[in-house]
Amino acid sequence: MNDRRIRKAIFPVAGLGTRFLPATKSIPKEIMTLIDRPLIQYAIDEAREAGIEEFIFVTSRGKSALEDYFDESPALAAELDRKNKTELAKVLESTNMDSGAIAYIRQTRPMGLGHAVWCARRLIGDEAFAVILPDDVIAGQTSCLKQMIDAYQQVGGNIVAAMEVPKNKTSDYGILGATDTSQRIVPVNAMVEKPSPEMAPSNLAVIGRYILSPDVLSALDGAGLGVGGEVQLTDAIAKQISADGVYGYRFEGQRFDCGSKAGYLQATVAFGLAREDLRDELMAYLYDLVPSQVLAS
Ligand code: G1P
Repeated sequence: MNDRRIRKAIFPVAGLGTRFLPATKSIPKEIMTLIDRPLIQYAIDEAREAGIEEFIFVTSRGKSALEDYFDESPALAAELDRKNKTELAKVLESTNMDSGAIAYIRQTRPMGLGHAVWCARRLIGDEAFAVILPDDVIAGQTSCLKQMIDAYQQVGGNIVAAMEVPKNKTSDYGILGATDTSQRIVPVNAMVEKPSPEMAPSNLAVIGRYILSPDVLSALDGAGLGVGGEVQLTDAIAKQISADGVYGYRFEGQRFDCGSKAGYLQATVAFGLAREDLRDELMAYLYDLVPSQVLAS
C-alpha cells in the first residue's frame, strides 16, 4: 500500500449546535438541510470523491438521527419503486453507505475539537487520516479534500486547509504563521488558535479540512486545555511543525461557514443558484427583491 494513501476520515459531529436553537433542540445541526440535502451529506460526498473508505463519526447524546440517516431505507425505496419515481430512488440510493464503512464513537463530554479527534484514536491506529468539519461547506470543481490529498502526496507531513480572512476575524479561527504565504502549499512556522488581531501571526486561517499524521493523536494524549478551556486540535498540530512539518493548503473553491446563520443563508442562495432546477425562479426572485431592499435601506 502507498504509505501516503488516506483511507480514513473523522467527522466531529458532537457539538450542541446552540447557534441554531431552537432548530437544534431536536435535530442535530448536521441534519439541517442546504436545499434538500443534510449538511453531513456534503461532507460525505467530498470525502468519497477524495477516495475515503472509512468514515468515523464522533457523536454525542441526541445525535441518533445521524445514524438513521445513513441507514438504508428499504420501505421508502420500495415505495418509490412502486410509484416509478426512478430519479428520487437514485437520489436515495446515492446516500447509502457500505455496511461496515461507518463507525460511531461517542464523545461523552464537550471538551473541544482536539478531544473529539482523540476519541477516534483507536479506530485510526497508526496511519495518516483526514478530518472534515461539516460546518465548513466548500463548493468547487474538485473537492477540497481531494486537492489536499494530492498535495499530501507531494509533501507529506500535516496539511490544513487555509484561506485569508479579514484581520478583525482572526479570533474566530486557527491562524497560521509563515514567511511566504504566496504559494498554494504554504510551509507553516506557527499555529495559534483564535488569536486577537494584535496577536495573530497573519490573516491566513485554518478551514475545517485536515490531513494529519498519527503523531497528532499522540500529542493529544493527555493534552492540556487551550483557548476557551478546550483541548485544541490546533495546539496538537502545532507540535508537529518541528517534526514532520505542517503546511497550509490554499484550496480552490468557495467556503461557506454553515456554523453561522449568515453563512448558512449565503450557502443556500449560492447552492440554489447553482442548481438548474432552481436557478431561474430564485434569480427572478432576487432580481425583484434586491433593488427594492437596497432602495428601502
Ligand atoms: C475550529 C478550529 C479552528 C478552525 C475552525 C474552522 O474552530 O478550532 O482552528 O479555524 O474550526 O472552521 P470552531 O469553528 O469549531 O470554533
